[in-house]
Parts: sequence; C-alpha cells; structure tokens
Amino acid sequence: MKIAIIGGGPAGLYAAILLRKQRPQADITVYERNRADDTFGFGVVFSDATLDNFEKYDPPSYRRITQEFAYWDDIAVHFRGSVHRVGGNGFCGCSRRTLLMILQERARELGVALRFETDIEDEAYFADADLVILADGINSRFREQHVDHFEPEVDLRSNKFAWMGSTKPLDAFTFIFQETEWGPFIAHAYQYEAGRSTWIFETDPNTFRKAGLDGLDEKQSADRMAEIFGWFLEGHPLLTNRSMWRNFPMIRNKRWVKDKMVLLGDAKATAHFSIGSGTKLAMEDAIALADAMKAAPTIGAALQLYENGRREEVEKTQHAADVSLVWFEHLDRFWDFDPVQFAFGVMTRSKAITYDNLTLRAPDFVTKVDKVFARQVRDLGFDVDVEKSVTPMFQPFRLREMKLQNRAVVSPMCMYSAKDGVPGDFHLVHYGSRAVGGAGLIFTEMTCVGPDARITPGCAGLWNDEQEAAWHRIVDFVHANSAAKIALQIGHAGRKGATKLMWDGIDRPLEEGGWDVISASPIPYFPDSQVPREMDRAAMDAVKAAFVAAAERGERCGFDMLELHCAHGYLLASFISPLTNQRTDDYGGSLANRLRFPLEIFEALRAAWPAHKPMSVRISATDWAEGGITGDDAVLVARAFAEAGVDLVDVSTGQTVRDAQPIYGRMFQTPFSDQVRNEARVATMCVGNITTSDQVNTILAAGRADLVALGRPHLVDPSFTIRAAAWYGADGVYCPPQYLPGKDQIFRNSVRDRQDFEDLKIKAKPKTRAELKEEASKPLAAE
Ligand SMILES: Cc1cc2nc3c(=O)[nH]c(=O)nc-3n(C[C@H](O)[C@H](O)[C@H](O)COP(=O)(O)OP(=O)(O)OC[C@H]3O[C@@H](n4cnc5c(N)ncnc54)[C@H](O)[C@@H]3O)c2cc1C
Ligand SMILES: Cc1cc2nc3c(=O)[nH]c(=O)nc-3n(C[C@H](O)[C@H](O)[C@H](O)COP(=O)(O)O)c2cc1C
Repeated sequence: MKIAIIGGGPAGLYAAILLRKQRPQADITVYERNRADDTFGFGVVFSDATLDNFEKYDPPSYRRITQEFAYWDDIAVHFRGSVHRVGGNGFCGCSRRTLLMILQERARELGVALRFETDIEDEAYFADADLVILADGINSRFREQHVDHFEPEVDLRSNKFAWMGSTKPLDAFTFIFQETEWGPFIAHAYQYEAGRSTWIFETDPNTFRKAGLDGLDEKQSADRMAEIFGWFLEGHPLLTNRSMWRNFPMIRNKRWVKDKMVLLGDAKATAHFSIGSGTKLAMEDAIALADAMKAAPTIGAALQLYENGRREEVEKTQHAADVSLVWFEHLDRFWDFDPVQFAFGVMTRSKAITYDNLTLRAPDFVTKVDKVFARQVRDLGFDVDVEKSVTPMFQPFRLREMKLQNRAVVSPMCMYSAKDGVPGDFHLVHYGSRAVGGAGLIFTEMTCVGPDARITPGCAGLWNDEQEAAWHRIVDFVHANSAAKIALQIGHAGRKGATKLMWDGIDRPLEEGGWDVISASPIPYFPDSQVPREMDRAAMDAVKAAFVAAAERGERCGFDMLELHCAHGYLLASFISPLTNQRTDDYGGSLANRLRFPLEIFEALRAAWPAHKPMSVRISATDWAEGGITGDDAVLVARAFAEAGVDLVDVSTGQTVRDAQPIYGRMFQTPFSDQVRNEARVATMCVGNITTSDQVNTILAAGRADLVALGRPHLVDPSFTIRAAAWYGADGVYCPPQYLPGKDQIFRNSVRDRQDFEDLKIKAKPKTRAELKEEASKPLAAE
C-alpha cells in the first residue's frame, strides 16, 4: 500500500508513525515544504488525558515527549492587581520544535520516508497513492482546490493575536488581563521547557488600532508588548519567530473525505488557542484515522468510519473553543466586574469547570466568590451575612418591591389541562407543590388573553370571572403555604394558535374545533398550518385591550409580577422577528418598527400594572435561523424594553420558525442571557437545559444571569430547590411547618452524603503528572 502525506506537522507525522506501525510493509512518504528544523511557534500544550492517549498508541514517542515536558497544575488569573490560582488542572507543555523533532525521528526509525523542502503543487504527485492524507495546515491548498466538495467554512474572528516566546519562567497556565491607555490586552502564557515560555497576546481590533500595532514590525510590536507586560516579565525578553499579528480562523469542513483523500488536523478543523487544543486535535485525528484503518475492510470504508466516528468529538471541542473565544472577544462585558468574579468567569467560561468542581479544587477561592456575591446582595439592601455567606443560588433578590428568597425559578410551562381556559385542581396541585418545593419564584404557564389567543384548547386563560376566581385560589395557596412569589405570564398565540395539545402533536393545526388565527404577516407556521390573518390597526387595538384586561384581572388575583410573552413565535414574537414580519407599514421593516406593537402593549400593561410590582418580558434572543434575530439584536430589544420600564428580561431562544437550527447542549441559552445582561445592563433570567444546582451557582456567580429558571427539571422534581438547599446547607430556605421533619432529615443526611460524594470524587481523580512528578522528587521519609 502506498500512502502519501502532505504536511509534516503534528498531524501528518503522527499519522505516518501510527500507520507504519500498523502496516510495516506500507510505502509511506511525508512531504513537507519546509526544512526539517524550520518550524514556527513556541510551546504546545497537552492535557494529562491526551498524554494517556499518546502512551497507549505509541509508547516510544510518548516517553521521549514526556521527558521534554514542563508540567503544571494551576491556572492563574491576573486582573487589576489581584491574582487568583486554581489547582488540579493537569497540563503539560513541550516545545513545538522538539515535538516535531521527536516525531520525525520516530517516523524515520519506523521506515517512513520524509521529504523536506518539497512543496506539493498538484495532485499528479500522488496519483499512484492508495491513500492521500491532507495534513497541510490552516491554508490547505488541496482543500481549497476542492472547495465545492469539502465546503470549508472559514470564520475569521475579530480579535488580533500574536504568538511569541519568553525566557520568563512560569509555574501556572497564566492569564494576564492588562488595562492600557488604548484598551485591554490579554496574555495567555505557559512554560514549555526550562527557561522557555509561550506568550500569546490578544486584543480587540479597536485597541489594536489605537495602540498603533498595525504600523509596527515584528520586533517593534514585541517591544510594545514588553512595555505593556514588563511589570510581569521582570526583565525577561520576548522572543519572536514569525510572530505576526493575525485573526484566528475558525475552520470547519462539511466533508472530510474525497475519494482516497482525507483531511487531518488544522486543514480540517481548528480550535481557538485559548483552550490549547490545536496540536492535540491534530494528533488525535491521526489516532482516529489509524483506528479506522485497522477496523475497516477497505480504505474507502476506513475513511468514512474516521469521519463518522470522529466528527462529534471534534465538533464538541470546537464548540468549547467557540464559547471560550467569544468570552475573550467580549471582555468589555466583564471589565468592570469585581476581580474575583471576573476570575471566576475566566475559569468557568467554557463548561468544563463549574462552581462545585472549583469548591473541591480551590475552596478558598470559592469562599471569596461567595463573599463578593453576598456583598453585591447587601448593596441591593439585603441584610445578608457576608462572612458566612450562602451560595449564590440562595441569595435573595429584589425586583421593585418584590423580594425573592432565592434565585431558583420555575419556568413557565403550559400544562394543556385547562377547561375553557379555567385552571383546575391539577393546576392547584402543580403550582402549589412547586411553591412548597422552595423555588423563589413560580411562573404560570402562558395564560392567554382571550379564547382566540390560546395555543391549544387546553391552554389556561384570564379573560373571564371564572378563570379569575380559579387563579385567585392558586395565588392564595402559594402565598399562604410558601415563601415563593408567583408571576403571571400572559400571551397571545398568534399564528401558532388553534393547534393540538402537546401530546397530540405540538404546533400541529387542529383538525376540528379551531378558530381564526392572526399574526404580523400572513405566513403559516407549517406549510399546512392555517394561514394567519395579517393584523390591522383595529385588531391591534382589540388585542391591546385584551392584554390590559388580563393584567387587571391578574392584579385582582394577587399575582406578584407580570410577564409579557414576546418569545417562541407567538403573536408578539411574530412582530419582532424579520422572518415572520414582512409588513410594509410602521410595524414592519426596521427593528424599531418591528418592536413598535410589542412595546405599545408593554407600555399599556406597565400603566395598568401597579407601580410597585415588577414586570418582565420573555424574548427569543435568537431565531437560530439565517436572516433572523441574533444575540446583537436581542441586546437592542432588551434595551428598548428596559427604557419602557421592564425590570427583568427572561432570555429564551428560538421556536419562532420551523427551519431553525438550534445548537443544543448543557445551558445552551445562557450565553444569550450573558450577552443581554452585560451589554444591555439589565437584569436577566436564563433558562434552557440547566439541570443541576451546580450549574445554577456557576451561572449566577459568574454574573451571567440574576435568576435561573428551570422548566423540565421541575416537572419531575417539585422540591429541586429544597434538595439543593440541603446540599449547600442553606437552611434559611422556607419550608411549611407540616413538612419540617422532612426538611430536618434531608439537611442532616446531606452533610454526610456530600462528604461521601466529595471523598469519592477525590479518590476517583487520578493524580496529575505534575503531582506524580512532585511526589517522585521528594526524598523518602527517614526510617
Ligand atoms: C503562528 C502559529 C503559531 C502556533 N503556535 C502554536 C503553539 O505554540 N502551540 C500549539 O499548540 N499550537 C500552535 N499553533 C497551532 C498549531 O500549530 C496547529 O493547531 C497544529 O500544528 C496543527 O497541526 P497540523 O499538522 O494540522 O498543521 P501544521 O502544524 O500547520 O502543519 C502543516 C504542515 O504542512 C506543510 N504544508 C502545507 N502545505 C504544503 C504543501 N503544499 N506541500 C508540502 N507541505 C505543505 C506546512 O509547511 C506545515 O509544516 C500555532 C499556529 C500558528 C498559526
Ligand atoms: C411542557 C412545557 C411547556 C412549556 N410552556 C411554556 C409556556 O407556556 N410559556 C413559555 O414561555 N415557555 C414554555 N415552555 C418553555 C420553558 O419555559 C423553558 O423555557 C424550556 O422548557 C427550556 O427550559 P428547560 O430546559 O429547563 O426545560 C414550556 C416547556 C415545556 C417543557
């Protein structure tokens, strides 16, 4: 078998090694346009887990690599004169040049042919090969020659970065956030061998321009960085090697395989340097390809197996890298944060590290985080204990005169069980038990402002006296038996109205017994849904009057708060999204026009709703669809509502158009809450696949939301909050007297359960290489 590998970087060389080990008779050649020792970059970084993988696949190169490594456990964050360190991370650094030398030597030993200074220009070069591995890096020539097939997407990110080195020793993966007269600069730095460290400098395009960096050459820009970070470098020089400022290209390819050609490493997918995974991804691609070649009967089958088996893992890493790079691109959102909260945000920016996880690794740091949070709560006027502070989830919150005992919220959830809009016994038990379960705030399901405003025949409403009395009973129960506050969510289904109950077919049109539906524009939801009537001014006035009447009834019921539903493609959302609003009058076109009717309703409600009671608005912060609402639009939407007097923005996403492409995952909507809160500077509630109290604390402590709503978790666990309170020892949580023995028991048991759990976690955690190395270097205790 003849294998041609284009590119002698980590991907190409490691693939050559693994394939040659597997097929000693194969004729394998690596073509590299540079000289053997002609390499850019300084250090590369691997996690302990990646090294475990290398050990398994090629012990000789693993041994040589690890002999050359610098190990560290800590991450250190420097910001505004403070330093915060967290241990237990398990990373190693190695010189990129040494790594390539080791891989070249090992490949030669195994009989791979290495052709340096050979720039492959066309495919004739490898016409007779059975397998062609395109490991030719970010600007892959052969990927570009087959753009129509591979369909690469190259997303050039806005921030500028430059890769440099230094002789400065470092004992941690170090982030330095530095204010300058031009704006913020970031250094991502780590040691990779004795006396050598990698320094990646990053800044936003404005600061880059103001600092005059586009006019400076390599040496001058290194001098500028040395001035900025001189206080930390302590006289150590910055070293350069093709250290040009550039924009990071986020690369993805729709297809990785063409006939006998396969993309590997950066040519196929990149991952932002802030999660240190470029070289790791490249070498793990080589492992996946070698595994597939071993398992499949033909080369064609092997290449498909490689792509199918590896894609998800690569996309997950890229998603984590995306979240991380976006964090660094939006430093301005957090720049005025308390340094402790800022550092917590850096550590938890992608989802791998959480509040509980940090409590195990760096308890003192988390205590500081809790105290900072408690201090902010004191500033809101609450007399909370700062020295012995409870976790963020159990800190109180205030919206106008409404005080919440904690930050956990039951998200609005339609129960599809009302009769003619009247909530019944099911609703009393449903809302009552969730209130007794300890959440600080309970939202009602979308309560419709008229019979034709309903989504389904089972939706609850508030347009007549019978409904008002039924809601009154529920509100009274909640107030009498819990410390929870209860918010009324009101809405109009618009074009998603007259549809079946959730369990009969969500959003599917009713076959009989339906009613006429209205919307911003006459566009049906599904092709076979009812075509809605485009609202005229008379219809708008009627809807506005219905909303106001429902709010007045809500006030008579005793609700503590009112939410206007402007999300999920219902009537008011259909005005906001350009995908569902194609009007040519004053209510269509620009965002300001599209917001006009929802804002008009909000203002009418605000005037009708008592001034001391808060109001929120639920928005879909993205349509997850081409040409639709984006996070940036959501900031403008939130600002407009804030100016109209909204107290809280309830940040959801999507469900506005059928062909949306949401990216699901843990806490997947939280980045939008983060953006809205910290750009529009308005209080937010986040929601969406948040399932643990650890996640709730992580979100709150990092300042990504003020309240956290959970929907589905509350469907199966009304006592989610009391259970979490027991876990964190927050015994101030209210429990009705009838249930106190249960509360006592769970609080008592939790102390032991938590200790057992932490012991298990600590025992199960393998020692990092840094810890092992330190142990090995200690002298044996004297007998
Ligand atoms: C400036 C810079 C500095 C970096 N520094 C670091 C770092 O310090 N640490 C880290 O972990 N990651 C670093 N990275 C990222 C890291 O280099 C990549 O993620 C990783 O090297 C990917 O490996 P690869 O084998 O896919 O590609 P590469 O390492 O880019 O290797 C591709 C190789 O293909 C060769 N090639 C391309 N076209 C042809 C052709 N037509 N014919 C013959 N040869 C060809 C190139 O010369 C190159 O050697 C850096 C990236 C850049 C751009
Ligand atoms: C059964 C069910 C009904 C829902 N009904 C509503 C509703 O009436 N109003 C609303 O704004 N959101 C509604 N939602 C969306 C939830 O409030 C929440 O945003 C969503 O479920 C994501 O949160 P989760 O992952 O915690 O469940 C509903 C969700 C579910 C599961």
